[in-house]
Amino acid sequence: MSSIIESIKMRTSSRNYDERTIEPEKRRQIENYLSLNEKGPFGSTVRFQLLDYAQGGQDQTENLRTYGVIKGARLFIVGAVISADKAMEDYGYCMEKNILMATSLGLGTCWLGGTFKRISFAKKIGLSANEVMPAVSPVGYATEKKTLRDSLFKIPCSLKNQKTLGRTFLQQ
Ligand SMILES: Cc1cc2nc3c(=O)[nH]c(=O)nc-3n(C[C@H](O)[C@H](O)[C@H](O)COP(=O)(O)O)c2cc1C
Repeated sequence: MSSIIESIKMRTSSRNYDERTIEPEKRRQIENYLSLNEKGPFGSTVRFQLLDYAQGGQDQTENLRTYGVIKGARLFIVGAVISADKAMEDYGYCMEKNILMATSLGLGTCWLGGTFKRISFAKKIGLSANEVMPAVSPVGYATEKKTLRDSLFKIPCSLKNQKTLGRTFLQQ
């Protein structure tokens, strides 16, 4: 496991995943981490779950799940937060912790706040009326291959500048 600072520096978003399944021990570690990640810094109650779409593959259902943006992912980190003041900030903070934890295990992720089928994910985790599901992320072994899809989404949303600011801040 790498340190959190190393994870921040090494992380990059991944939209293509290979067929390797995550080792049971790593999966257990992720599930355990998600189950303990229950409160944001502003006090909102969050909850996370690892959803397993065992079929994987390049089928039509997969394409519908993320509108074709994510390929080959079998597992998704999905969560919800109770609607309240600063709920989004709390969810963002807690989700990023999940993402960095997965990075420290050598796994790929990709924040998805728009290109995922919200209704279908919401149903799977039993989203209640007082909760919102701001974003999800695939998790798994990323392929090296970068596609046009990656470039199209990465360029407008690149976090590289924010990472530079983050590094400056962390050095102070
Ligand atoms: C809150 C949030 C929501 C995002 N939603 C999407 C999305 O729905 N679809 C997508 O392809 N990228 C989305 N992105 C962008 C990617 O997750 C990623 O940040 C971007 O490709 C930049 O790549 P990098 O993380 O490697 O710098 C989102 C990013 C953030 C922070």
